[in-house]
Amino acid sequence: MKRLEQRVALVTGAASGLGEATVRRFHEEGARVAVADINEARGRALVAELGEATFFVRCDHTSRADCINAVQETVARFGQLDILHNNAGGPFAGAFESADDETLERVMNVNLMGVLKMTQAALPALRESAAKKPGGAAILFTSSLQGLKARPNYSIYTVAKHGIVGLVKSLALELAQANIRVNAVCPTVTETPMLEKFLPGMADNKEEARARFRASIPLGRMPEPVDTANALLFLASDEARMITGVALAIDGGQCAG
Ligand SMILES: NC(=O)c1ccc[n+]([C@@H]2O[C@H](COP(=O)([O-])OP(=O)(O)OC[C@H]3O[C@@H](n4cnc5c(N)ncnc54)[C@H](O)[C@@H]3O)[C@@H](O)[C@H]2O)c1
Repeated sequence: MKRLEQRVALVTGAASGLGEATVRRFHEEGARVAVADINEARGRALVAELGEATFFVRCDHTSRADCINAVQETVARFGQLDILHNNAGGPFAGAFESADDETLERVMNVNLMGVLKMTQAALPALRESAAKKPGGAAILFTSSLQGLKARPNYSIYTVAKHGIVGLVKSLALELAQANIRVNAVCPTVTETPMLEKFLPGMADNKEEARARFRASIPLGRMPEPVDTANALLFLASDEARMITGVALAIDGGQCAG
């Protein structure tokens, strides 16, 4: 039996990078998956490749109406919702002092407010699913190593990603009685399109920035998106039935030092 057979998942920011890798692993393990993203072209291409066990829904998770619609479409299409993966987010690097109001709001909206809205939108369906299944339901988040640690010039992003870890702990307690488990992954720098946006500010050239990252990781290699997706697969599955309230570093040992 596949690890997510009979499960329905909704993944935000699902058209690229870590979200796309998660869609692929969940799909391989038998889940039906809603691919929710603002990038229609990439989202639809992924669904065309994976087939009928997936569908695309345009969803900007900072819009409550979009979140509600994505959940409704998922339930209409697949009959239930068992797993929510709040993955959508966006980078911001820059000095804290020079960030204007528009920047503060944009970074907090895409990295934190959207996650709050989507979780609220999904909870009625997740509660319904959890009440029917011994394995319950699962809410997953992509936080970041910046949700556990800090580095200079990432303050606003770090506030948002730490906020997700706080939400994980409080929701884990709030939803335990309902048999809904709540966990986050906290990846270190990972090779995705988002990383390309971060790299230029980090060194004179991208290769030098990559080499610096690699050197800072005790295991000596950069993680791939599938490394995070594999951790999410475990946390979504019944194998993790006693795990809730955890923020799991996917960092090759960086947090150990
Ligand atoms: N790549 C890394 O090094 C890294 C490390 C730690 C955490 N993260 C986190 O992982 C998550 C995914 O990042 P990634 O590296 O895969 O980036 P990515 O740019 O490859 O993918 C992000 C996806 O999110 C979508 N998206 C952006 N804003 C959205 C919105 N408002 N609503 C819905 N979808 C939206 C984009 O269209 C894109 O498809 C983010 O939350 C990011 O903060 C990334």
